[in-house]
Amino acid sequence: MRFNTKVVRAGIDPDPTTGAIIPPIYQTATYVLEEVGRDKGFDYTRSANPTRQLLEENLAAIEGGKYGVCFASGMSTVDACLKLLKAGDHVVCSDDVYGGVSRLFNNILNNYDLKFTYVDTSDPNQVVKAIRPETVMLWIETPTNPLLKVTDLEAMGVIAKEHTLLYAVDSTFATPVFLRPLKYGADMVVHSTTKYLSGHNQLIGGIVITNREDIFDEMKFVQKTIGAVPSPFDCWLTLLGVKTLHLRMARHAENGQVVAEFLENHPKIAKVTYPGLPSHPQYTVAIKQMSGYSGMISFELKGGIAAGKNLMNNVKLCLLAESLGAVETMITHPATMTHVDVPKDERYARGLTDGLVRISVGIEDVEDIVADLEQALGFA
Ligand SMILES: Cc1ncc(COP(=O)(O)O)c(C=O)c1O
Repeated sequence: MRFNTKVVRAGIDPDPTTGAIIPPIYQTATYVLEEVGRDKGFDYTRSANPTRQLLEENLAAIEGGKYGVCFASGMSTVDACLKLLKAGDHVVCSDDVYGGVSRLFNNILNNYDLKFTYVDTSDPNQVVKAIRPETVMLWIETPTNPLLKVTDLEAMGVIAKEHTLLYAVDSTFATPVFLRPLKYGADMVVHSTTKYLSGHNQLIGGIVITNREDIFDEMKFVQKTIGAVPSPFDCWLTLLGVKTLHLRMARHAENGQVVAEFLENHPKIAKVTYPGLPSHPQYTVAIKQMSGYSGMISFELKGGIAAGKNLMNNVKLCLLAESLGAVETMITHPATMTHVDVPKDERYARGLTDGLVRISVGIEDVEDIVADLEQALGFA
């Protein structure tokens, strides 16, 4: 099957009992055994559920991997991956990872004696320098949330192999439509399915995909033991969302490029970061490993906090909302929204300046998105 066919069909055959084209929602906690020690492949939904299994197979096929294991959120997926480690282990991690990931690492997992070093992984030399004898894992996010830094996955693959490190990539922003980390030697690819994969702001979920049977076995063990599983209904909704992934991503990328170019030429904006712009610091890496650049853009307003607030309060079509990767255009101003409680020097140390804005460009008519930003920038 070619890629778009896999998106629509992989793992999903008509229901064998009824012929239903759309698989049923197996909304059940448990299953009747045929006899002691013999079931039909399912015994309890925390361990396995037919609707969840279809989603796992479908997303694994789309990512070009053998196995998928779903969790109740992107965060519980990240947490499950870190369960492969033991006390004393050290992780080298992208410095601009999603804030929820660094909060998990710094405020929870470090209490279990896991150690983390954050470096700019877009510079492979910094990664090599951070490796210690107890380093066991590379945690890469590309492009990052929110600064859209791009890491060279081929270079990371070489480093991971040379130092025998587990190599994990959070590919939420790129999606398998535009990036396939497994090709570059990644052991695990993580997605928050809350975002582009489900695509309609309708649920919270996550998945890890791997080609390694040993990792799959461990992830299944974590899934059934800890039980942070998505509901059958959420799996079913994700399956429906995925069916149009290729079409949505093409439009997100097309609109993203137009909006990025509009913003880059706007007098009230100091800087635009979008992997599809030649001005992006890792543009050559982006065009080498990605086949498109999604709808995520960050930009810096010249007028700082006041300009950010004014822009947020004057958008009409763009929605003031914290998530991303859905059909609706959404916009956030970290300094007054997601990071309002973070002290300014700490915020600046992470590159989250007063004028920083992140926009998740949706699939509306791009002229309407640009017109809305243009009128709202009049107040910024
Ligand atoms: C890159 C990235 N990874 C992981 C997550 C966590 O996903 P969830 O919100 O589904 O727990 C997010 C959420 O924004 C994200 O942007």
